Amino acid sequence: MKAIFVVGTRPNFIKIASIINVVNIQKKQNRGDIKYVLVHTGQHYDSKMSGEIFRKLSLPKPNFFLGIKSVSHAVQTAKIMIEFEKVAVKIQPDVVLVVGDVNSTFACSLTAAKLGIPVAHVEAGLRSFDMSMPEEINRILTDRISDYLFTTCEDANRNLKNEGVNPKKIFFVGNVMCDTLFSYRKKAENSEILEKLNLNQNKNITEYAVLTLHRPSNVDNKDVFVEILNGLRSVSKLLPIIFPVHPRTKKQIEVFKLQKYFNSLGATGTPRGICAIAPLNYIDFLRLTSKAKLVFTDSGGIQEETTILGIPCLTIRENTERPVTITEGTNELIGTRSDSIRTKALSVLKKGSRKFKVPKMWDGRAAGRIVEILTRKKQYF
Ligand code: UD1
Repeated sequence: MKAIFVVGTRPNFIKIASIINVVNIQKKQNRGDIKYVLVHTGQHYDSKMSGEIFRKLSLPKPNFFLGIKSVSHAVQTAKIMIEFEKVAVKIQPDVVLVVGDVNSTFACSLTAAKLGIPVAHVEAGLRSFDMSMPEEINRILTDRISDYLFTTCEDANRNLKNEGVNPKKIFFVGNVMCDTLFSYRKKAENSEILEKLNLNQNKNITEYAVLTLHRPSNVDNKDVFVEILNGLRSVSKLLPIIFPVHPRTKKQIEVFKLQKYFNSLGATGTPRGICAIAPLNYIDFLRLTSKAKLVFTDSGGIQEETTILGIPCLTIRENTERPVTITEGTNELIGTRSDSIRTKALSVLKKGSRKFKVPKMWDGRAAGRIVEILTRKKQYF
């Protein structure tokens, strides 16, 4: 079977790593028959957002780099389609595999579907039911034109069935983010990020929180952004908050002139306040979150990673497409109001992590199931 694997943004690289890993292992053992071509759309391009993550995850150099970069949604989607169509026509794959919910995911799915090439969507069926999120549009449209819908949880299966998707196309395989996390957990223990940030002095780890923030609804509106920062600033009086800053957020901090909310790290001494640092590679970020007292985020993947690690996660959003991280995991939705951010954080700091369990099938074998199903090339529908 000839497949094209598509990636475009940082979370895509983390998800595809586990699938490529399984294909490579099978190849070494002379079994399995997937040959893949890796296409990087270029949606994320900074070395911190792309090259460094590729290296740390030992991902192969992409066979095709489309070099699209950041433009408006319409232009980005259209440009990816134009360039990806040339690759798909040249390669003539049996399947195009896409992951997640970013513009690259949808643009390449649509291109493949129009060429009559089957589409496999990894992480299908997640729904926030909030159509103002660009990702929700990408999820729904990608699922509608996919032939293999690989899901991470039972609510995703239900969502797809409620939308009338043929159940024979739905494959409940588990979560590839977990696979990658399990594979790199040991390596992350050797990361020196805590020492670099002066959080580990003489084997004494300082209590700290981690923050990630990049949703347009949180950082593109100054009032919302300031409200969130006021809540976080009061929490940061109790423990430092380490904030690897996403490029979109960095830009908005400059546009809105919000630099006064952040401290940079001094050469020595424990970090204080909200400490803005450059984006981290996957291994360092995994080490940082795994030792945190709590994590604030608006990312999707981090809600899942904290559930696997058992670290309390406070999600700065009104909704989530990953409700299983709340009903079973360590996640809680706290909205964007500063008083809610402060109250919920204080409660977590007082009570610690609540009881949680890792959701069904988040066992590190999702990629193996995906490869198995694709390899069988069985006619399911
Ligand atoms: C994208 C995804 C989002 C995902 C996130 C993960 C869409 C619609 N959004 O959001 O779902 O959670 O990636 O990080 O696909 N930029 C850089 N360097 C880079 C990449 C981006 O400077 O390598 C800057 C650009 O100025 C750009 C901005 O970040 O304008 C946003 O990038 P974009 O890819 O449009 O969306 P993200 O916010 O990264």
